[in-house]
Amino acid sequence: MAEKVCAVDDVPVNQAVRVVVGGVPIAVVKDSAGDIHAIGDTCTHGDISLAEGFVEDAPSASGVGPTLECWAHGSKFSLETGKPLTLPAYEPVPVFEIQVIDGDIYIDPTVTKEID
Ligand code: FES
Repeated sequence: MAEKVCAVDDVPVNQAVRVVVGGVPIAVVKDSAGDIHAIGDTCTHGDISLAEGFVEDAPSASGVGPTLECWAHGSKFSLETGKPLTLPAYEPVPVFEIQVIDGDIYIDPTVTKEID
């Protein structure tokens, strides 16, 4: 069941906020377009919180989309697919469905997006 994690206004543009929902750590990001993303917060290369890393808001024309970079060794994870776009990580993190209701963000940690 989806739980309220924070308000949209609690997430600064191009920064990540770590939340824990149902025991699942999740990095919530607002990109420069105002879109909210939610991906697994634990880097698949090591036990590092991705929310402590860096948001890079790539132009959509690049086809890459916004990423969240792990500060430890620099793997960049797509906020849209959860896939690492650079080594050393090679396993994706989950991407969670989010709902925005009355300015608040809701996430169900048991529901992830199906990504090809
Ligand atoms: S711990 Fe994240 S890239 Fe190494």
